[in-house]
Formats: sequence, C-alpha cells, structure tokens
Amino acid sequence: MTLPPGAEVAVVGAGAMGTGIAQVAAQAGHQVHVFDTRMGAADAAQEQIRETLRKLASKGKLDASEAEAAAARVVPVHALGDLVSARLVVEAIVEDLDVKRKMFRDLEVVVAQDAVLASNTSSFSITSLAAGMKHASRIVGMHFFNPAPILPLVEVVSGLATDRAVAELVYDTARAWGKIPVHAKSTPGFIVNRCARPFYGEGLRILHENAADPATIDAVMREAGAFRMGPFELMDLIGLDVNFSVTKSIWEAYFHDPRYAPSPIQAELVAGGRIGRKSGRGFYEHAADARKPLPATEGACGRPSNVTTVGAGPLIDGLHERIAAAGIGVERKSASGPAHFVVDGMILAPSDGRPASAIAGNVVVYDLAFDYRTCTRLAVARSAGCSDAAYGTAVGALQAAGIAVSEIGDAAGLVVMRTVAMLANEAADAVSQDVASARDVDLAMRNGLNYPIGPLAWADAIGLGHVRAVLANLSAHYGDPRYRTSPLLRRSRPLVE
Ligand code: NAI
Repeated sequence: MTLPPGAEVAVVGAGAMGTGIAQVAAQAGHQVHVFDTRMGAADAAQEQIRETLRKLASKGKLDASEAEAAAARVVPVHALGDLVSARLVVEAIVEDLDVKRKMFRDLEVVVAQDAVLASNTSSFSITSLAAGMKHASRIVGMHFFNPAPILPLVEVVSGLATDRAVAELVYDTARAWGKIPVHAKSTPGFIVNRCARPFYGEGLRILHENAADPATIDAVMREAGAFRMGPFELMDLIGLDVNFSVTKSIWEAYFHDPRYAPSPIQAELVAGGRIGRKSGRGFYEHAADARKPLPATEGACGRPSNVTTVGAGPLIDGLHERIAAAGIGVERKSASGPAHFVVDGMILAPSDGRPASAIAGNVVVYDLAFDYRTCTRLAVARSAGCSDAAYGTAVGALQAAGIAVSEIGDAAGLVVMRTVAMLANEAADAVSQDVASARDVDLAMRNGLNYPIGPLAWADAIGLGHVRAVLANLSAHYGDPRYRTSPLLRRSRPLVE
C-alpha cells in the first residue's frame, strides 16, 4: 500500500539529503513541507529544487509545466508545528543520535498518531532512535543515497519495534516515487555500508602489503572488475575522513570483528589532513596541474607460438576465446583438475587465493575479471620459481589477446578475485544473519553503488567452490579470522535463485 499522492510529506533537515528527498517526493505528486532550524535553509531548498527542475525541463527531461507544478508543491515552513498534517515525515538532520532522538520526540507530539516517522540516518540503529517513543512501531529507516534524486536505491530499515505494515508502506511508497527499495533489518551499516567494506578494506590491505600502488589497484578494479571507480579514487571522492569514520563505526558496532578493521594507512592520511579531493590530496594529488600516476603496466612481450587450454569454466572460457581470436593456435583438452592454460610449456592459471610464491614451478596466476571477453587489463603474479622467460611468455599471451597486464607483488588472491570473494562473503553473512534477502542484497549493491553485478550473483557465476577455495587460501595464508568463510557459501545451491 503506498502513501496516496494527495498525502502530505514532511522533510526535516534541508541539507544535501533533505533537499534531494523533498524533490523526489514533490515530483511524485506530494505536497512537501520542508523544515530546518537553520535560518533560510528551507527557503534555499525550495529555490534549489525549483532551479534543478527548471534545468531538467530546459534539457527536455521534464515537461515545463510539470516542473513548475512540482516546484510549487515544495513549501518551506518555519515551525515544527507546521508539519501537523504530514502523513510521512522523513528526517534528514545532522547525524547526531541525541539530536535525532529529540527531533523524533518533538515530532511525535506534532503529527497524527498514525503518521509514519522515517529517518534517513546512515549509521544509527532504528531501534535506538525509536527507544522510549510512545509509538515506536511507526519509526522506520528510509535511507536514500546521495544524490537522492539520481541514485535509485532506498534501504527501508526496520528496527526491533518497527511494524511490518509501516515498512511495507515506506517500501511501496519509495517504489511509487520511482526508487528501487530493499528491506533491511536495523544492523550496523544496514546493507550497503556494511557489504561494501571489503571493497575498501581489501584494497587497503593489498596496499599495506606493498603489493601494488593505488593507481594499479584502481586500474585493475576498473578494467578487470568493471567497477566504475577503484577503491582509492572512490575514497578520495567520498573523503577519507567520512570513509574512515564509517569503517570505524561499523568495526566498533561489531565489537572489533577483524572483518571490518580499519587500515593504519587510512588513519595516517586522515591524521595528516590528506582526506581526498576536498583537501586537494588523499591517495592522489588533486591540484589542477597534478598528473594522475599511471598503473604499472608490462611492456610488450613476444607472442607465444601455442597454447593449450586444459579444462573449461567461467575463469577460462572467455580468455580461451580471446587467445584463439588473436590467431594463436589453441588446442583444447579436458581434464579433471583445476582448469588452466599451458603457454609454450608454462602454466597460466586463475588465482585460487594462494599467494603466487606458494605455487611450485613456472606458473603465472591471473586475476578475476567481470568479463574475460571484454576486460582491458588483468593483474598477474608469478610463482617464486618462475623464470623471466616463462613470465614473459604468459604476459605475451594475454597481450596478444588485447589485455594490458599489471604485475602485482605477492598478495594472496591478487586484487579483483580477493575483493570479490570478500564482498560475496560479507553479503552471504548479511543474508544468513537475516539482514536482508539475497535478492535485496544484490539489488542494493547494484543500485546503491553501481556494482556491475550483485556480489552473490557474482559468486554464483564464479562457482561457489572456487570462492570457498579462495577464502580458505586467504585464511590459511594470513591466519586472520577476517577471512573465515560464511556458512551460506558452503551450500551447493546457487545463492540467488
Ligand atoms: P547536511 O549537513 O547537508 O544537512 C543537515 C541539515 O539539517 C542542515 O541544513 C541543518 O541545519 C539541519 N538541522 C540540523 N539539526 C536540525 C534540527 N534539530 N532540526 C532541523 N534541522 C536541523 O547533512 P546531509 O548530508 O544532508 O545528511 C543528513 C542526514 O542524511 C544524516 O543523517 C546523514 O547521515 C544522512 N545521509 C547522508 C548522506 C550523504 O551522503 N550526505 C547519504 C545518506 C544519508
């Protein structure tokens, strides 16, 4: 059941998020009353929304009369009491638990007993916001992403007291507003902020191990992993201070579970004021004349004369096709063991999570790609016994297939394989702990963060057996409970059905 379009919506807090949320609700046809304690903020929000809608109309993305009508539905108010007829209040004030709790207590006496009170909080428990309220069952999370008019995801967060019907109403309303809602249980980080931790965490670990620099890790994550940005570019954009504080709050909320442990590298940069684009410097320099460092890329190596593809599977087939299309003679053999390539007598194999140094012989391991048929770069690492000539042969095969090659130092699981295995592991834990359904976790990661595929569907595509092997090898190598395998990954059925 959705909130009827005639129902009045209130937005409390007219900052970046509140303004965006008010625009979304007004465009959906609601009269939206906007309140802020900061002088002029609600009026400024109304003006900004009018401006944005006019721009959309001038670009032909919105009918001009619709734009004017939607802007006219945004009404700044200057007292909380003016929200008396709101059927749904979305709170988007400062992220301070005591201030938010006071706001909900004040709202409770203003609005009707059956009006819904939603919070856009990113980090506070909905249960704790509702504690002590007279009607705690109507407190719910309605977590938009920034910028709210553009990013489609809304996490609908239920605390211990939230009435299911209230969560359903907010879910259906978000959908009617053109959003993609997902249900989540109120737990630290909800879905997205929790399940995305390994994206940053594994990148930081690889950097900490000195296995690759930020530019190389970012390039591999973009060009092989098909992520829009790599972890270091993204942290610089978000602000290292913001990212560090989210990481720390989730780590603390999970009682220092090593899964979420922050990185000393990030702490040091924050301590030094190098917090990313907004300070001109983070992992990268952001001055106007700064040159972005290039990823480590191997120079041209010779083409191999023959390749044998041993076995088949999702980590092999795309590369097999590309090597064959490059005009290198490729023979195919079936085999019972792990699939790999034999390139002029040396082995080229997908990473199984072991560090390359733990593998005997002339072996080059390569990283996971979202799509081996289209990726433009792959990370590789060589076994301790691998000769330069053998290494060059493997690199030459990948280069002949049109793929740039970045050599990574001895990090277990390379870059994309390790990160994706940990993203899937975290997502699987969130599902097995009943934070959200597998479908909603994947939907949230795709629509909140633009991931190319949900981490659970990605684990299914790689094969759960391989993901388990990667995690087991990471765990054995590092001896860190961070890499323990989620019980859900142990099942034989696909994670997303
Ligand atoms: P902001 O600082 O841009 O805006 C907050 C607004 O709330 C300010 O205009 C401030 O004057 C007003 N305010 C503060 N205390 C108030 C009170 N007691 N009564 C009425 N108004 C009050 O903050 P932003 O970024 O819009 O965040 C707001 C909320 O949205 C926070 O809970 C934040 O965690 C959450 N959020 C933020 C996201 C982001 O990327 N900025 C993303 C998703 C959620």
